[in-house]
Amino acid sequence: MTRSLHGRRVVLAVTGSVAAYKSAALTRLLRAAGAEVDVVMTRSARRFVGDATFSGLTGRPVLRTAFGPAAAGELHVDVARRAELVIVAPATADVLARLATGRADDLVTAIALCATCPVLAAPAMHPSMWSHPATRRNAELLARDGRVTLVGPIAGEVASGDTGIGRMAEPETIAAAAASALTPRDLAGRHLVVSAGPTLEDLDPVRFLGNRSSGRMGFALAERAAARGARVTLVTGPVALATPPGVVRRDVRSALEMQAALDAALAASTGGADALLMAAAVGDYRPATTHAAKLKRSAESLTIELQPNPDLLREIARRRTGPRPVLVGFAVETGTDDEIAGYGQKKRVEKRVDVVVANPAAESFGRSDNRAVLVTAEGARWLPVLEKTVLADHILDAVVSMLGGAE
Ligand code: CTP
Repeated sequence: MTRSLHGRRVVLAVTGSVAAYKSAALTRLLRAAGAEVDVVMTRSARRFVGDATFSGLTGRPVLRTAFGPAAAGELHVDVARRAELVIVAPATADVLARLATGRADDLVTAIALCATCPVLAAPAMHPSMWSHPATRRNAELLARDGRVTLVGPIAGEVASGDTGIGRMAEPETIAAAAASALTPRDLAGRHLVVSAGPTLEDLDPVRFLGNRSSGRMGFALAERAAARGARVTLVTGPVALATPPGVVRRDVRSALEMQAALDAALAASTGGADALLMAAAVGDYRPATTHAAKLKRSAESLTIELQPNPDLLREIARRRTGPRPVLVGFAVETGTDDEIAGYGQKKRVEKRVDVVVANPAAESFGRSDNRAVLVTAEGARWLPVLEKTVLADHILDAVVSMLGGAE
């Protein structure tokens, strides 16, 4: 989960489909991500799930569906104005038709028509209804108008037991689409280069010198930067992680290979980069000789001579002639919090970079969360223990502010 939903006002409109029970799970996910959720139900939705389920999950009463002259005030206007995101889930074939034609004959469609915030709809219906030309036309109309974005439906078994496309997207998928809809595109037009993972320095065809970096911090940075609209090049050592959507990935093995890949990604001839986030755990040394054949065991003790690798970040900083690319280094340190912040500041000045993200060693390697201090020329700012994706957004905030206004 990201921080995109934290404190955001989401209206969840539930319409009459068996999939309405899944909207309870969606509500939980949205709440767990910190969103404030108001649920609106149509009369037919109430035949599938009760108000109490949603009011229990949101801690707020379900909004009344009473509508028309008898309804008090202009509830749809107030709700739509307050909402930062409207999600219609499940969205029946009927509600899609009404959304597509701009009907406003109940609270759900009136809110959707009034809303100026993003509106998502997660269709759920029998596959033969989804594939009907009328529904196809309605979905096309909604896509063309660009005011309602459909999430799903997906292929699978529907309530009747038939299979085909018509199942509502899973609550996790809808929650992720909600987070994405609320993510600012403040890195649009920027090119960010991110390094991740360990480097492996070969001794012979089967042995190497490496480290325990999982690559998660770098991958989280790449994922969030892409979500915020950046073009992202991810240069990574060997890791067991999937490439985040929309990210261009370059796989490397050794520090020297990483250096070559970074130079290519940063080259002015390919458009240069606005920022480099150097989250890789680059090996400081490599064997002086890489043996072409496997070393044989012997009774003698073995001494391996190591030679230093270049400091990739320091070299890039040394060659930098202006404020771009913004350079972010990472440092795993041991000591008290003050010592760690101090080492971070020392590294920042010595390496001539803009930001150093320093972590206490015991609280970072191989974990999905992380405690870190952001060290800039202005000083040190400790962040609480955060999921790496959330920490990534804080680091990217610092990059955004250093990059200044729009591209
Ligand atoms: N780094 C690099 N090239 C290296 C080593 C490190 O580019 N050969 C980068 C890392 O990616 C990281 C930053 O430098 O962003 C700090 O790494 P760290 O290992 O903490 O720095 P060192 O200078 O090696 O300091 P130490 O002696 O504390 O290990």
